[in-house]
Amino acid sequence: MNVVCYPSEILSRPTPRIEKFDPGLRDLARRMFEIMYEANGVGLAGPQAGLSLRICVMNCDPDHKPEAELVMINPEILELSGNEVGEEGCLSFPGIFIEVSRAQHVKVRFQDLDGQVHTLEAEGLPARAVQHEVDHLNGSLLIHKMSMVQRLAHRRALKMLELRRPAEAEAPKAAEVEEPKPKRRRSS
Ligand code: CO
Repeated sequence: MNVVCYPSEILSRPTPRIEKFDPGLRDLARRMFEIMYEANGVGLAGPQAGLSLRICVMNCDPDHKPEAELVMINPEILELSGNEVGEEGCLSFPGIFIEVSRAQHVKVRFQDLDGQVHTLEAEGLPARAVQHEVDHLNGSLLIHKMSMVQRLAHRRALKMLELRRPAEAEAPKAAEVEEPKPKRRRSS
């Protein structure tokens, strides 16, 4: 299964909370991890898997160690502090990376697959990923973070995405992307 890409309408829709914690939810999270790993991402939100549900999965470990897997259901950001500009990509915007200003530190409350409530504090990449995924669940996307200059710089890649039919939902070829090859860039 491919990641749902911009400009698919489902990505802009705020997701409803999950109220039922049944075994199907576990299967769904597993499938989301598989899609995320296949796309080499650090996070994936429900709408990117075609499901308008308030769930996201993350794994910020560089080797994707299973113990670093995190499933967040109904996440809610409690606190944001500090500020850090960093490069960010999104699996729904293949080939596009922009500098985004985010809080450096985040405190988030979420439920796990059993419905248990947890609070997590994160910094750096995991904090960025949490903010990115919660944005997804609210229907807010990387394009909404773009300045006019960034939109102009990526207008070709955005146009390519807009022109693609859903059936062609695979990453654009390198030649279609205007920027140089990244060192190690990760999207979520
Ligand atoms: Co994303």
